[in-house]
Amino acid sequence: MNKRFFITTAIYYVNGQPHLGHAYEMVVTDVIARSRRSLGEEVFFLTGLDEHGQKVQQVAQAEGKSPQVYCDELAADWQAFAKKLELTNDDFVRTTESRHKEFVQAILAKLHAAGQFYKKTYNGFYSTKEETFLTDKDRLPDGTFDPAYGEVIELEESNYWFKLRDHQQWLVDYLEANPSFVQPDYRRNEVLGFLKNRTLEDLCISRPASRLNWGIPLPFDKDFVTYVWFDALVNYISIPAAHGDAIVLAAAKSEIRNPKSEIELWPADIHVIGKDILKFHAVFWPIMLKVMGLPLPKQILVHGWWQKEGAKISKSTGNIVDPIAVIDEWGLDAFRFYVLRELDIGPDGNWTDTGFKARYQAELANGLGNLVNRSLSMLKRYRNGIVPAKHDEPSAEAQKVIAETRSLLEQNQLQAALQSIWVLITRANQYVDRTAPFKLAKDPAQATRLDEVLYNLAEICRVLAVLLWPFLPGTATKIYAQLGLTGAPDKFADAAWGGLKPGHKIGEPAPLFPRKDA
Ligand code: MSP
Repeated sequence: MNKRFFITTAIYYVNGQPHLGHAYEMVVTDVIARSRRSLGEEVFFLTGLDEHGQKVQQVAQAEGKSPQVYCDELAADWQAFAKKLELTNDDFVRTTESRHKEFVQAILAKLHAAGQFYKKTYNGFYSTKEETFLTDKDRLPDGTFDPAYGEVIELEESNYWFKLRDHQQWLVDYLEANPSFVQPDYRRNEVLGFLKNRTLEDLCISRPASRLNWGIPLPFDKDFVTYVWFDALVNYISIPAAHGDAIVLAAAKSEIRNPKSEIELWPADIHVIGKDILKFHAVFWPIMLKVMGLPLPKQILVHGWWQKEGAKISKSTGNIVDPIAVIDEWGLDAFRFYVLRELDIGPDGNWTDTGFKARYQAELANGLGNLVNRSLSMLKRYRNGIVPAKHDEPSAEAQKVIAETRSLLEQNQLQAALQSIWVLITRANQYVDRTAPFKLAKDPAQATRLDEVLYNLAEICRVLAVLLWPFLPGTATKIYAQLGLTGAPDKFADAAWGGLKPGHKIGEPAPLFPRKDA
């Protein structure tokens, strides 16, 4: 059996509704998943929710609900959100599911038996807001702690710790030998800088159940629950285990029986995450996997953070983008297009309403929409919707864009791939203006030339549908339907020039991106 291309998003805290940043990460991951499928790979795309921890416990309490009821209600919203974005995820993990909890406990029991954990009493500073222990190294130059930590208290507490520090040099060597492990490069350098400039502290993996009970009990000490990272990160292997992945099942030597199917997923090909959780994925996770005896993921792909109108996205100040409202007003593909075209995977981005409208108008409505609409309308009007004989005037240019797009998709360069596709759109619109089919149609002596131009335009529309499929699946499907083609434009190989058959009758042209008068 073949290993699938396994790609994941982070799993999202259920302490609120999904926002622009979460939607961006999900859409980026979906585009990569769709493009790999289009390129012929078998893909498994996993997303889901991180449901344990103090924040969830507190929000549930504030709403007067049990944490489980609270999580169940919000999980329904998040799952509906994934559908709204038309994500092609193959599973949706919730860390409160028994398939995940049992696996976490199996791994913890195994590592405990192997002597990887020790119990220690900690006496020092603690940020309740960030649920984290602080040391003097975390102090700012003026001696205070960053206000982001909220109230910092002094605390004495026993907990279990994972021996991270033994593996520091191994990890540095690994990162140096595997430049593509963390991408983009500047994020990899950030991790290397962090590892070279400080001695790794061991990782606290528990919280006393007396203080936090909304978590997975430690299998070897019921007075403690698992603290977030040994719960959350493990979703990337607990779900493969639930699907019968033999490598991870062996690592857990767990009692989990009767997995649903047997598919090979691990190691993950790509973990897509935001820059704020880089340390957990590029430092803790590799070391955890090493001691479990598991291979490391092939790549951690790190995106930046979105702001809105130049300021932090924040519920309390009302500076938010509600993806659902945008999608309801402008359509899903307009949302997907804006975030993917505006922001490359890596740097921070800034959503502006005027920028969104400008891209909608210029690139979608006047660019892509206008090209498809006038090409198909003219074919309908002048040739009754029947595709003329094949011609290949723009084929070299199209082939160039097809090859470029393929290579950019293989490198997860989504923004650059869209730029490349838009070169073809712009050139095709220029081709209409230059050849002026509306003039050719008035001169019977130009009938053959008109046939050539109409074939070329219709064929460019077909090629575009295939290239756009991973990004704008709804639009690509509409273009196919308007061309009278059945099925989905979901196989990259179909982009090759000349697929449209002479004599084929197209469907009904209709505007793809309606004009908005706002
Ligand atoms: N639950 C942890 C992750 C565990 S992964 C095993 C968590 N959850 S989160 O809900 O706070 O964030 C989930 C993802 O959303 C992260 O990758 C984070 O970077 C991303 N984003 C949250 N806000 C964001 C923006 N404003 N912009 C872009 N992405 C952002 O951390």
